Amino acid sequence: MAGRGLTAAVTAAPSIELREITKRFDAVTALDGVSLRVERGEFLTLLGPSGCGKTTTLRTIGGFELPTRGEVYLDGAAMGATPPHRRPVNTVFQHYALFPHLSVGQNVAYGLEMAGVPKRERDRRVGEILELVRLPGVERRKPAELSGGQQQRVALARALVTQPAVLLLDEPLGALDLKLRQAMQGELKRLHREVGATFVYVTHDQEEALTMSDRIAVMNAGRVLQLGEPDEIYERPRTRFVADFVGQTNFLDARVLSLDGTEAEVEVAGSGRLRTRVPAGSAPTGRVMLSVRPEKLTLAADAPAEPATGWNRLEGTLVGAVYVGTHTQHVVALPGGATVTVHRQNRAAGAPGPIAGEAVSLVFDREAATILAE
Ligand SMILES: Nc1ncnc2c1ncn2[C@@H]1O[C@H](COP(=O)(O)OP(=O)(O)OP(=O)(O)O)[C@@H](O)[C@H]1O
Ligand SMILES: [Mg+2]
Repeated sequence: MAGRGLTAAVTAAPSIELREITKRFDAVTALDGVSLRVERGEFLTLLGPSGCGKTTTLRTIGGFELPTRGEVYLDGAAMGATPPHRRPVNTVFQHYALFPHLSVGQNVAYGLEMAGVPKRERDRRVGEILELVRLPGVERRKPAELSGGQQQRVALARALVTQPAVLLLDEPLGALDLKLRQAMQGELKRLHREVGATFVYVTHDQEEALTMSDRIAVMNAGRVLQLGEPDEIYERPRTRFVADFVGQTNFLDARVLSLDGTEAEVEVAGSGRLRTRVPAGSAPTGRVMLSVRPEKLTLAADAPAEPATGWNRLEGTLVGAVYVGTHTQHVVALPGGATVTVHRQNRAAGAPGPIAGEAVSLVFDREAATILAE
């Protein structure tokens, strides 16, 4: 019984846990009290601007940096000062480095050779992993004889071949052009499903984070500001930073008139009253900031004749429109002085949009606007 209880406790441990990690480099605080749990087999993305601490977080998990304060747990075990090669973790670095003088096969086999795996077994596993990254038969080539995207896949194969429980990926697609990048995103997701390892992925590209991740940790200035599933991060940003960094949004200054559970009635100066969502667990009063995404605003002329009751309405004047291919971006000035951006889908048989100077009404669901916590 005791044995079974112990097994249950061990398997319940998250794949990775960071507890209150602070990392200082002299005067720079790169990480400032980061706590994070990553479940086994999860695809977690660290998303944030340059310098926010993404690489430092990965390097701390991998053991290339030791925390100034706090502790890293892998599979429930405290890592202390355990060196990188003793951790069940492999890393694909921001600037992936293949050994240029070794063949692709030798590059991929490197970790297996270090682990003392016999030659015949090595060759078999290298062949298998090169199939998995869709580069069969390139063992004898030198890295310089492959394209950038192919080299990237060799770097992935090298990290996967030793079957790590955790794979840390630091902007592995950063150097690729858009098309190749999108193809590799799909490949990476497939690899993640097939190998079943925990992936911690770093990017500063919000679309890549939204499309690839089980959960996203949005970071800024050494802290995790919000951790959640992609739709939660996009639809219910808690702070101005997250709302602004992930996607495009409109901010409106408002004043809370009344609170009603998860909804509030607010006044936007000069533009009247709106109903908005209130973040769970908060009870805002006084002056607040609202966020409304441009694609959630509809020009009243495009809306159903009788929009559902409880929809919000704002009156304004069209300032200008910019054609962006899939949609046209309309900028509307509100009487209170604020401007909002509205995205209007460019449907083939769509009616022509309004012209600058025209009075327009915007309608949107009360769920579309949210009060930000800070
Ligand atoms: N070895 C180091 N010595 C001193 N400062 C460092 C060191 N490594 C990182 N830093 C600083 O720590 C902060 C976080 O750096 P980090 O490399 O983690 O950022 P990042 O989020 O990965 O950024 P990027 O998107 O540009 O790669 C930065 O201010 C950086 O200058
Ligand atoms: Mg980095």
